[in-house]
Amino acid sequence: MSASAEMPYFIKPSINLSTEEKHRAYREAIAAIDANLAGETQDMIKMVTINCLLKTYLPYFYWTGFYLVQDGRLIVGPYQGTLGCLYINFGRGVCGKAATERKTQLVPNTHALAQGSEHIACDPNSLSEIVVPVFNGKEELIAVFDVDSTLEGSFDEVDQSYLEQILRVFAD
Ligand code: SME
Repeated sequence: MSASAEMPYFIKPSINLSTEEKHRAYREAIAAIDANLAGETQDMIKMVTINCLLKTYLPYFYWTGFYLVQDGRLIVGPYQGTLGCLYINFGRGVCGKAATERKTQLVPNTHALAQGSEHIACDPNSLSEIVVPVFNGKEELIAVFDVDSTLEGSFDEVDQSYLEQILRVFAD
């Protein structure tokens, strides 16, 4: 099934937030994540809960999910959104770059990147993106967390700081 520009009934276009609104939304999301994941040890449960609660509190989180490290490449993990590509090689796309560099990638305009190499367009509605590497307690890369917005410039250092904080739950 090829990606379609038409959004399915269960997905709405992104709404950007001001910096002040972002801080408030992340504080509420973190409170909900902490309440629901207190004492949780299973990574899959952490992933599905983080997807759901971040998508609930951050209205610009369009495609929200994880790509897991398996046999030297990324495979699609838990996500919410339209059909995501199933496999991504390290170094390819924004996710593959985040995995290779082990650093958060902030992309204000995905369409400014070389398509198919610097950016993989699972959904043509994606206009900006952030990808955050996920490490376990031994600082091994276990996944990347990928968020797309249907608006340009949705993500900045505020998102990077909060998401890196939230994703440290996988190092516990
Ligand atoms: N855009 C990502 C691919 C994953 S889809 O967006 C869900 C990338 O360029 O790596």
